[in-house]
Amino acid sequence: MKSVIDILDLSVEELDDMIKTAIDISKNPDKYANKCKGKKLATLFFEPSTRTRLSFEAAMYELGGNVIGFSEANSSSASKGESVADTAKIVSCYADIIAMRHPKEGAPYVAAINASIPVINAGDGGHHHPTQTLADLLTVYREKGRLDGLTIGLVGDLKYGRTVHSLINAMSRYEGNKFVLVSPRELKLPDYVRNDVGNKAQFVETTDLMEYMDKFDILYMTRIQRERFTDLDVYNRLKDSYILTPDKLINAKKDMCILHPLPRVNEISVKVDDDERACYFKQALNGKLMRMALILHLLELNDGKRFPKLDGESGHVCKNPTCITSTEQELEHVFKKGKDGLLRCIYCDKTLS
Ligand code: CP
Repeated sequence: MKSVIDILDLSVEELDDMIKTAIDISKNPDKYANKCKGKKLATLFFEPSTRTRLSFEAAMYELGGNVIGFSEANSSSASKGESVADTAKIVSCYADIIAMRHPKEGAPYVAAINASIPVINAGDGGHHHPTQTLADLLTVYREKGRLDGLTIGLVGDLKYGRTVHSLINAMSRYEGNKFVLVSPRELKLPDYVRNDVGNKAQFVETTDLMEYMDKFDILYMTRIQRERFTDLDVYNRLKDSYILTPDKLINAKKDMCILHPLPRVNEISVKVDDDERACYFKQALNGKLMRMALILHLLELNDGKRFPKLDGESGHVCKNPTCITSTEQELEHVFKKGKDGLLRCIYCDKTLS
């Protein structure tokens, strides 16, 4: 059973095929209008969402399928203490495919290894958001005509910004991409994300948004994620670190593409919206097209195998308070060796400390 928990669960060939399908869907929507007739998508959202949930639902309806689900944990039996594993087993009885968002890192992976239908990670804590990356890839491809040889500025909350982690994993598989990481020191990219990429891409770090502004092909702005902070004073100090305004774009390339996964809070002035380089609303539309392509791909591809449970070392405890193991006591704590040789939790990827 193919599930998508991490963008690396999709090969470059699969990504390229999905981009082609999404473009074909946008040109010939009627061809796809009944492709999922009789199929049901379950949207299990334990955390708020506008774009991801509604675009998944719109995607399934436009494929002729139906949608069941919930949009908050309180309206599901999770509020009575039901585990993610049991939820996944139950929903497998009612639906053909699951899209799950959860505040705990690793929750969609737990669902995938327990479900008998494909599971799509629709965002887990500060960990991964692979379908946002699908939206980003299609947008970059449509705007720039390629996915390689690009200088990509990633700005804002690179620590908790799950969209950034997934995007780096995806874009580093294409040749010649360079990432400029722009963040306050407190919100730097986690080491494990960079270690996983190794020497497949170049990285530069700065705290100054303007330092490389004239070099960017893609400027990817992100929100400082209030909901991930335990100390709100730190959030308040950092929240307006980077605000993109028209004057900051004067020396930027004329064909630069400005992206943001949205929602924005204050990182991009509404005055930038009229700039032809602003692509973040197109990006949201592209998200629906890529989710259509992904649903089709996963429903068509049934290799009869269950999503693999990772092997590793037990006998250690994950201390990450945002890992799914912090709330689901029955889960066995298991650690695997990362490319850097350090042991990492199989659910949340945090290094054993
Ligand atoms: N980009 C994104 O994940 O938006 P939502 O939180 O509204 O789904």
